[in-house]
Amino acid sequence: MGETLENHAARVLQSLRPGVAADAALRDYLAGNRSLGAVGRRSVSRAVFAYFRWLNWLEPAQSLQKQVVGALGLQARFDRDPACIKTAALAARAVPSWLAGEMDVCAAFLRVLQREPALWIRAKAGAARDLAAALGSCEEPVLPDLVQAPSGLSALRYRGTADLHRAPGFQSGLFEIQDLSSQLVGHACAPEPGETWWDACAGEGGKALHLSDLMLNKGLVWATDRSVRRLSLLRKRAARAGMFNYRSAVWTGAASAPFRVKCDGVLVDAPCSGVGTWQRNPHARWTTTQGDVAELAAVQAGLLGRAAASVKPGGRLVYSVCTLTRSETAAVADGFEAAHRDFEPAALPIAAGQPRIALLPQDLDANGMFIAAWRRAR
Ligand SMILES: C[S@@+](CC[C@H](N)C(=O)[O-])C[C@H]1O[C@@H](n2cnc3c(N)ncnc32)[C@H](O)[C@@H]1O
Repeated sequence: MGETLENHAARVLQSLRPGVAADAALRDYLAGNRSLGAVGRRSVSRAVFAYFRWLNWLEPAQSLQKQVVGALGLQARFDRDPACIKTAALAARAVPSWLAGEMDVCAAFLRVLQREPALWIRAKAGAARDLAAALGSCEEPVLPDLVQAPSGLSALRYRGTADLHRAPGFQSGLFEIQDLSSQLVGHACAPEPGETWWDACAGEGGKALHLSDLMLNKGLVWATDRSVRRLSLLRKRAARAGMFNYRSAVWTGAASAPFRVKCDGVLVDAPCSGVGTWQRNPHARWTTTQGDVAELAAVQAGLLGRAAASVKPGGRLVYSVCTLTRSETAAVADGFEAAHRDFEPAALPIAAGQPRIALLPQDLDANGMFIAAWRRAR
């Protein structure tokens, strides 16, 4: 790697400015340092994320390099012996204090946050077995009792060290890198081939691609987002995945959708505080505020209410957020139900008939995610 690992990580940390997420700064840094190679890139990423995971154990008066070395040491110690750090210390230092007012910050949650995240991939429908054999180092997920294994789940946990973006099958769209909980959102929607779905906050298309795959490329997925940049990435991914049954358009959350049809299903995978991703993205623990949570809850309620107008009678509306705060989960769902009497809670196929589910990182070794569903009266 030439330069030391701690020097690379320190440079990424120095490049951070208010409003810039560590993963974005890391992406920029790695793009400008291509000679690092796959192993070097992974090591620098690990070091930067370890720094934010163990931030409150580090000595700020020390150089960033020394702090990075300290964080990696703490990570290695914790990985070897998780009991070496008491739960009370984790509660006080691993998450901001406001979180306890918004969710049950239990020991299992805190402990999983301090581990490195699992890498999940989604094989194209019917391709999981062959893909696992081709890649090696793959495991099928073990789902907790709370989650009913959906038929067609094609998630694999990858434990290998290869650069998956260069692995055979990636460029030809045989698989996507997609967190297990995100995959469960697609199965919670359970779209049928030939239906029309609207992925209202499609972003770069993680879930839109999955919906299309579950629909066997038949029917139509409207993929919208307010970000033109994200939609252009979605189109690139769709081309690679051989996804043809979609149309994309900008939607900024206005009262009317950018199309006229009513949909069999609408997914609102809303922008959120991302607390459920704090294992993967520990920098966000220290930049997200209680004010953000309140602001985002209002945005979510607005997007959900306006997107609901495009659900046809008898159709389904699915709300998902990768967070676990009460304000953005149950409170948004309760508020929607109170204001939309023509929507009845609808059983989630992955939740044994329940209309809401909270997927917890400690149960799945994946992102935390809240999902709720409703059916519009006929
Ligand atoms: C959780 S992300 C979506 C992730 C995406 N569904 C996926 O699976 O890859 C939320 C998305 O909502 C979009 N967004 C934020 N505010 C919005 C608004 N007012 N109207 C429409 N989209 C919005 C963001 O640009 C972001 O792409």
